[in-house]
Amino acid sequence: MTAPLPAFGAPPGRAPVIVGVGGHVPPNVVTNDDLVARLDTSDEWIRTRTGIAARHVVTPGTATSDLAVEAGRKALKSAQDAQVDAVVLATTTPDHPCPATAPAVAGRLGLTGVPAFDVAAVCTGFLYALATGAGFLASGLAERVLVIAADAFTTIVDPADRGTAVIFADGAGAVVLKAGDADEPGALNSVVLGSDGELSDLISVPAGGSRQRSTGLPPEPGDEYFHMAGRATYRHAVERMTAAARQSLAGTGWAPEDVDRFASHQANARILEAVAERLGIGPERRLSNIEHVGNTGGASIPLLLAQKSADGELKAGDRVLLTAFGGGLAWGAATLTWPEL
Ligand code: UT7
Repeated sequence: MTAPLPAFGAPPGRAPVIVGVGGHVPPNVVTNDDLVARLDTSDEWIRTRTGIAARHVVTPGTATSDLAVEAGRKALKSAQDAQVDAVVLATTTPDHPCPATAPAVAGRLGLTGVPAFDVAAVCTGFLYALATGAGFLASGLAERVLVIAADAFTTIVDPADRGTAVIFADGAGAVVLKAGDADEPGALNSVVLGSDGELSDLISVPAGGSRQRSTGLPPEPGDEYFHMAGRATYRHAVERMTAAARQSLAGTGWAPEDVDRFASHQANARILEAVAERLGIGPERRLSNIEHVGNTGGASIPLLLAQKSADGELKAGDRVLLTAFGGGLAWGAATLTWPEL
């Protein structure tokens, strides 16, 4: 894991500060009962094992960039239509294997010409993209960065796999970062990132990349779909998110009781509870929307922040702890103070 970097060691005036947030989900809602109609599962199993009651799912013709553009537009509006000079997009479901999706998103947002690129860190993608955006600010490469995380996970999940089809869903979230001061509301404090490629097989899409294509053989049936070893992933998720969160808190100089709002990647309600309990953060301080949106991959943290900021559960001045975990394996945590938006 990286050592926590308080305000990224940014020079004065170049600390990453959130000045806008936006979220978007496609309008089509799929309930547990809709899934029960075609899968060997039950509403009770899904609710008790995952905390999910319904999720938003793209309909034919809607791709990741369409979700990303909507979230990006809302984040720019929330930042009072600030100009940005870079776009970073975290996604596991790019519109195409090549090119990156970010340039098309930037173009549709009227940002043609700015650097725009994708970051691939699966469900931790938002935290990796946030750190990348912060690096652009600290180095002086940009004054303002639009950081988006968008996933149309249902386009890669096997609709017949009850282990993944009941969890994963579609959505997008975004923040605008500006170069500012470390003590401003909205400033990101300590960010911790880590990975373990020895466990890359726990979460993967086996086919479609150079590894499978280099064999010269067609993919095995089902290998173009997302595979997850659920039980093992669950255990690593709890351990890694707890450890990363503790490290980020220590880097910020906060105790768990200093955290007003715990905003974790919405992997599974039981995972969130286990991590929060280990950290000693009570239910009244945990933010969650998994019941209504499912696990939206990399999009889940900024989507959660956007929704909770809009409904008032997340307020200006709240001290927020973020944490995420997913394929790679890759994980991370960060602390920040929520801005007035
Ligand atoms: O987002 C990034 C990373 N992802 C995660 O962090 C997700 C991590 N994993 C999980 O959330 C959970 O492992 C799952 C929700 C995927 C599965 O829950 P679980 O409690 O770990 O169940 P399991 O995989 O150990 O399966 C228990 C039983 C099995 O049946 P047997 O072998 O005990 O007879 C499964 O076949 O539950 C069965 N099962 C289901 N039953 C009804 C698995 N999926 C379903 C289902 N409906 N949808």
